[in-house]
Amino acid sequence: MDFLNKLNPQQRKAVTAADGPVLVVAGPGSGKTRVLTQRIAYLIANEGVRPWQILAVTFTNKAAKEMDARVKAMLNEQATDGIMLGTFHSICARILRRESDHLPLGSNFVIFDSDDQERIVKSIVKEFNLNDKLYRAASVHASISRAKNELISAEEYPINVYRDEVVKRVYIEYQKRLIASNAVDFDDLLVYTARLLEENPAVKEKYAQRYKHILVDEFQDTNMAQYNLLKNLASYTLLLWIPSRSWSPPSNSSRASVP
Ligand SMILES: Nc1ncnc2c1ncn2[C@@H]1O[C@H](COP(=O)(O)OP(=O)(O)OP(=O)(O)O)[C@@H](O)[C@H]1O
Ligand SMILES: [Mg+2]
Repeated sequence: MDFLNKLNPQQRKAVTAADGPVLVVAGPGSGKTRVLTQRIAYLIANEGVRPWQILAVTFTNKAAKEMDARVKAMLNEQATDGIMLGTFHSICARILRRESDHLPLGSNFVIFDSDDQERIVKSIVKEFNLNDKLYRAASVHASISRAKNELISAEEYPINVYRDEVVKRVYIEYQKRLIASNAVDFDDLLVYTARLLEENPAVKEKYAQRYKHILVDEFQDTNMAQYNLLKNLASYTLLLWIPSRSWSPPSNSSRASVP
């Protein structure tokens, strides 16, 4: 493919690397995202990889759009049909709509935005007769969100000080209300997907077998829930991660299956 000529030798090596985990460490603006994009094109054009066997994760919607446009420009549009390319959140939403049979939700679930989320917390704080100066909706919601990104459910929420007890009660009620509205918040997209894969070996196997190539841009920014998700999806396959700083897995996770 002629696009390989436009790469420097190190970039070419990463783009054409054989199967197996590849770690690209390079400074800011040195062409890491470009490597990832070109590897997608290379896998399809040169290695006979089918588009639906590729999962590519970016951190922003803008980056996903750019990557999609760049891959399409390198190949013809049809050749790229079926690539799972997007942010963690958009990828999770697509998986969850497909697998809604396993969830307490319908496949047409709605995704509540930050305003909706805070409004629900606010109304719970009010109904529980809590002091809304002490328990500001934004701060209680932030605690819930932090827990979700560490995959801590409402029932598991640890209590150390009195405030935790309150947050836990609100968290439990908050989840009830989301489910009653057939809704999820942004964090739930990750949490439900991580749990779906952890708890359903058949579902996990299906996706893990399907995604022969998983490419992650800005891997160093993954949180616990995202890391867990990748670990499960990559359990049969390979992971190309692209950190620009040194990175170590979140502390309470297993390092075993990702070298
Ligand atoms: N071999 C190359 N030839 C020409 N242009 C290149 C080459 N490699 C990268 N570039 C250009 O350099 C710019 C930065 O590349 P890219 O966004 O891939 O870097 P990055 O390492 O992902 O950056 P960041 O650290 O900001 O994520 C882009 O405009 C890209 O098209
Ligand atoms: Mg980049």
